[in-house]
Amino acid sequence: MNVVKPADSFEIPLTPRVYSKQFGEFIGIGPNGNLWVEDCDVAELAETFGTPLFIISESQLRHTYRQFRDAFRRHYPDVEILFANKSNNGLAIRHIMNQEGAGGDCFGRNEMYLALLAGTDPRTLVLNGSNKQDDELEMAVQNGLCINIDAMDEIDRIDAIARRLGKQVDIGIRLKLDLEPLDDQPGVPMHGPGSMKAQSDSHKWGMTREQTVEIVKRAQSLPHFNLRETHFHLSRMTNDPAPFALMAREMVTWSGFIRDHAGWIPPCIDIGGGWTFGKWYGTGPNSQIDDDSAPTPEDYAKACAAAIKGEAERLDLPLPKLRLEPGRSISGPSGISVGRVGAIKRGDHKKWINLDISTNHLSWAAILDWYYHAVPVRDADAEPTETVDLVGSLCNSDEIGPHRKLPPLERGDLVAFLDTGGYTESCAARYNAQLLPASVLISGSTAEIITEREELREMIGRFKVPPRLLAQSFGGAVAAE
Ligand SMILES: Cc1ncc(COP(=O)(O)O)c(C=O)c1O
Repeated sequence: MNVVKPADSFEIPLTPRVYSKQFGEFIGIGPNGNLWVEDCDVAELAETFGTPLFIISESQLRHTYRQFRDAFRRHYPDVEILFANKSNNGLAIRHIMNQEGAGGDCFGRNEMYLALLAGTDPRTLVLNGSNKQDDELEMAVQNGLCINIDAMDEIDRIDAIARRLGKQVDIGIRLKLDLEPLDDQPGVPMHGPGSMKAQSDSHKWGMTREQTVEIVKRAQSLPHFNLRETHFHLSRMTNDPAPFALMAREMVTWSGFIRDHAGWIPPCIDIGGGWTFGKWYGTGPNSQIDDDSAPTPEDYAKACAAAIKGEAERLDLPLPKLRLEPGRSISGPSGISVGRVGAIKRGDHKKWINLDISTNHLSWAAILDWYYHAVPVRDADAEPTETVDLVGSLCNSDEIGPHRKLPPLERGDLVAFLDTGGYTESCAARYNAQLLPASVLISGSTAEIITEREELREMIGRFKVPPRLLAQSFGGAVAAE
């Protein structure tokens, strides 16, 4: 296998663009007044590649990754960034992350397969998941990924595979942290309603303290097991760095507990994703939009590093290696999604702008009440004069952007949703037999398809009609002739 080694000693130089209005370092309003990604006019991209269209700026992706990585490196001695592949599974995206030296968080067999196919160093990949399948565990053992145990029976299942293959296997444990101080702190409803602690307690992930100790003791007795890390993912229930720091501190508290009860000190803690990013125009969950007051990677790094160091000192523990699994904060700002205006409809109290992009593509707008800032692609800085509902064409209310102030739009115009590089393509659905959009990668003035637009024949090709039904449908007609 051709493994791409972490290589951040050589970095492709990046030059942020200067636009008349900046939406990012590489996205903004270009010299002709249209929305640009790097040196490409988004209107031209939409005409060339069609809509709905996902567009990713390669430079923005690299830049955002480096900002995040460097912030944590400034505050902590030993940091490894594992890009959360689930936020954008594209093979080209994984290649870029490899070139930047990022590892990866894989959830499930196919995310692991894609990362391996892209040549990611397996030692920098972790396999997470609450219901890992046998073939998935086998692929992880075969390829040398760290498996974060999230069910008691995984121990025996992994052990059997490791013995059969004669392989050593790196093991982590996903924790069910107590998070007591977050009991009275409301959380953005990422995992149902309730405080951050209530949500964390009620979701399916993680092992209790007692289970964790049992896993460690078992692992210590198994010659094929190498204990490597503990793991937790708070998710974006808040953008406040304090709960993240509290979580990071508790990871170390648990390290003390594990040492005292099982004699093992985790050499590495993996504190997951959920890190936010803010934009002056706003992005993120409607109940707590991330604007320019949102914390920066620097704020998170400072708070978490101090919490880990403080707790390690208090418990007389060596400083663990720190792993993080940012997804949306890296991929989100690198992408935009473009749709074309179709029917425009006025009611007594409302105006609806129908687009060919929908909650099939921006699903978080529907399921997590997410705010994606919308701008017209042509004449992108035109004065907003009316409030409209931006809706998709699906057979549900399909609200992508309710109550948006925009300039007048006409059939055929283009609308872009900003900061949609994460959890759009990877969460896209086919409801109403809609086909999946294409993705285009921009690097300077170069635009290349990285995900082909789905064709009708590909969707139809998956459907089968049992011959029995064919006979019932057509056999009678034939017999009656
Ligand atoms: C285990 C794990 N790590 C990392 C992430 C990435 O989270 P985010 O994209 O919010 O940074 C997720 C998201 O679901 C996750 O489940």
